[in-house]
Amino acid sequence: MDKNIYLAQFYGKSQNYTQIPRDWFPKFGVKRGLRNEDHTGVLVGLTRVADVVGYKRDAEGNKIDCDGILYYRGIDVRTLIEREDYHGFLYEEACFLLLFGYLPTREELDAFCKVLQSGYDLPDEFLEMNLLRLPGKNLMNKLQHALITLYNYDPDPDNIDVYQTLRKGLNIMSKLPSIAVYAYMSKVHYYNRQSLVIHYPRKDYSTAQNILSMLRLDGRFTEEEAHLLDILLFLHADHGGGTNSTFANLVVSSTNTDIYSAMAASVAALKGPRHGGANVKVSIMMERIIDAIGIKATDAQMEDVVHKILQKKFKNHSGLVYGFGHAVYTLSDPRAEIMRHFCGIVAKEKGMDEIYNFYRRFEKVAIKTLSEAKGTHMCSNVDYYSGFAYQLLGIPRDLYTPLFVISRFVGWLAHNIEHKQYDDRIVRPAAKYVGEIREYIPMEDR
Ligand SMILES: CC(C)(COP(=O)(O)OP(=O)(O)OC[C@H]1O[C@@H](n2cnc3c(N)ncnc32)[C@H](O)[C@@H]1OP(=O)(O)O)[C@@H](O)C(=O)NCCC(=O)NCCS
Repeated sequence: MDKNIYLAQFYGKSQNYTQIPRDWFPKFGVKRGLRNEDHTGVLVGLTRVADVVGYKRDAEGNKIDCDGILYYRGIDVRTLIEREDYHGFLYEEACFLLLFGYLPTREELDAFCKVLQSGYDLPDEFLEMNLLRLPGKNLMNKLQHALITLYNYDPDPDNIDVYQTLRKGLNIMSKLPSIAVYAYMSKVHYYNRQSLVIHYPRKDYSTAQNILSMLRLDGRFTEEEAHLLDILLFLHADHGGGTNSTFANLVVSSTNTDIYSAMAASVAALKGPRHGGANVKVSIMMERIIDAIGIKATDAQMEDVVHKILQKKFKNHSGLVYGFGHAVYTLSDPRAEIMRHFCGIVAKEKGMDEIYNFYRRFEKVAIKTLSEAKGTHMCSNVDYYSGFAYQLLGIPRDLYTPLFVISRFVGWLAHNIEHKQYDDRIVRPAAKYVGEIREYIPMEDR
């Protein structure tokens, strides 16, 4: 018998000893997924960085659905976008706001951008040694590897002083766009036998401009394209302290480990398709749906597909309609609303209205069908449109979730610093033992 058959047998037998019935969780007062009975999150901290409003409470404390609002340091993100003085550095302005708590003056924003720009260059030989020589099959894993490796280039990597954390964090942040783009170039060169293209970042460019210029063969992009990517980065910059990857960062960092390890843990969490990895899943799902029913499909055909997905009869068999549902938002996710608007503008410019209209129609049908099936209002979330926005910009799918990392890094950093300053206790919850206490049986008697 080969080893795997033994293993399968042990695994089968183990079910007699290891099971935990689902109804024991409420019986022992355990909040699965750190969720209250009404699906709201269990309070695990206090934050002044960002707020995600997805429901209200009535006088009796019942949860009431409402349109979603996302605040960065108390400012509704919509007001930051709907401004008249767009200056091309919206994401950097949000980074300043999230990290320091107030809106920068023009001089302060310029000085902050210079700090970031001074960190754009990678350490000597980092590109050759860690990215070109060691291509990764998955860029999210590669980003974790790169973060852990940056530790070795820091003369004082274990220093977790708050100010040093800020400095180290900004230094990593400014390098992430090149690391992600080069990791992609290395991957497609090695695995897909494509030509290797390395463009260096320009110091006068914003994060969004640099990503586009490093990614494109001719390094060129339009103002509208850079604006769309700037908005995407801006909208993903933070989502409160309860977000899985942010909470993971605080859990890991609360042990007083180094910032590189804490950030790698966040990337690991963000990779999952229930979290940041959903943007790739949406994009694949939509492609398959269009393949299956055609771009001119009727609403009835779309509804049929949603039912098939729920019944695990459609291609990915996950039972999830990716890009829908949210842990906090109920009636709407403001980021999806904003993305829908901007995608419409850029789709028109690029002559991609037909696919955009398919997304719009499918969104309406899926919301209705899902809400009826689940008996609760389900909204589209940011990932429904973010993959499509990247597609409009010609950004390869491999980079969808890494772009989320580039953007969310600042949120992780702001919460990491806030936690160090004002909470600073090791996160250590409890788990109840529900097994039996048993006698040891000598080997010959088993
Ligand atoms: C985002 C998400 C993880 C939130 O999960 P949550 O708050 O724990 O919601 P729940 O899992 O409690 O949802 C309640 C029910 O709706 C279902 N549900 C939630 N989102 C769903 C979706 N997109 N498609 C199908 N069913 C969904 C759940 O499976 C659950 O069903 P059940 O009660 O029969 O087990 C979930 O909506 C999801 O997986 N969405 C798809 C992935 C995605 O788009 N992620 C990006 C988030 S920004």
